[in-house]
Amino acid sequence: MQRIIKGKIYMQRIILAALLGFSGAALAEGGMLQKDCSGCHNLTGPAAQTLKDAFAKNGPALFYAGNKYRQEWLVSWLQKPERIRPAGMYYGDHIKPGAKGDEIDTATLKDHVALSKADATKVAHELMELKPHDDLIAREKIEPGTIDKMMGEMNFDKFWGCMACHLIEPEYGGLSGPELYTAAKRLQPEFIASFIRNPQAWEPKTWMPNKAVSEGGIQKLVHYLEMLSKEAANAK
Ligand code: HEC
Ligand code: HEC
Repeated sequence: MQRIIKGKIYMQRIILAALLGFSGAALAEGGMLQKDCSGCHNLTGPAAQTLKDAFAKNGPALFYAGNKYRQEWLVSWLQKPERIRPAGMYYGDHIKPGAKGDEIDTATLKDHVALSKADATKVAHELMELKPHDDLIAREKIEPGTIDKMMGEMNFDKFWGCMACHLIEPEYGGLSGPELYTAAKRLQPEFIASFIRNPQAWEPKTWMPNKAVSEGGIQKLVHYLEMLSKEAANAK
């Protein structure tokens, strides 16, 4: 059964890739984003509205990139992409049974295309113009503040259960969501707050639950992720 479903999804992906290939070719004069990126990334919205579409995604949605990323991070990551989701877009596609439980089947994960500095700069600029969710961002206000590392981790792990899906250090934490020790380097603080407040406002079919985190709880989680990213940068 599992195999049949997988086979079906795979066929759908091939058909989808073929369809996107055609529209991509038709839009070739639309620039690099259309030509080289739209096959895997949703650049126009809306977000996936069904579970089927969410599972079939070949890459994260970029149509709200301007509300989400830090431009300087985009420029550098696009030249030297490093993995952010330890088990790829959909965890279930990239795990295999191992001695101590499920392991990531790294052989099934592909490296991301890397761009020249000029292309990365240009594409990052174009991505930053995509801002359909200014309304969600405008609701967030980040209070300045810091949090003690132990308290922050306890809050993140024990109190809100975020560790189940997110790494807070390389190889420490859950594997199904994006790593979060680089989150504050990658993402605008207001996006982080908004996504924690209501993940489904951004991605209706995301499997990140809405934990109904209190306002104070959101501020603490943002401060914690800011601290982790500073630490990760210093460790390099
Ligand atoms: C073959 C499919 C594919 C193509 C083509 C592709 N990407 Fe990606 N992209 C991905 C996947 C998969 C990820 C998630 C990587 C990860 O989490 O480690 C990703 C991640 C990203 C991210 C980081 C987003 C995030 O939140 O994690 C950016 C930015 C990005 N891609 C931009 C681009 C641009 C610009 C292009 C065109 C030049 C492009 N991609 C082409 C599959 C693709
Ligand atoms: C059941 C797994 C799960 C749990 C629990 C979970 N998340 Fe997530 N989270 C995800 C997934 C999956 C994504 C990627 C969003 C998507 O594309 O669907 C995500 C995305 C995020 C993002 C945006 C990161 C990015 O690069 O796009 C932040 C920030 C985040 N989660 C924080 C948290 C916090 C804080 C908690 C605890 C309150 C939490 N998450 C609990 C699965 C989870």
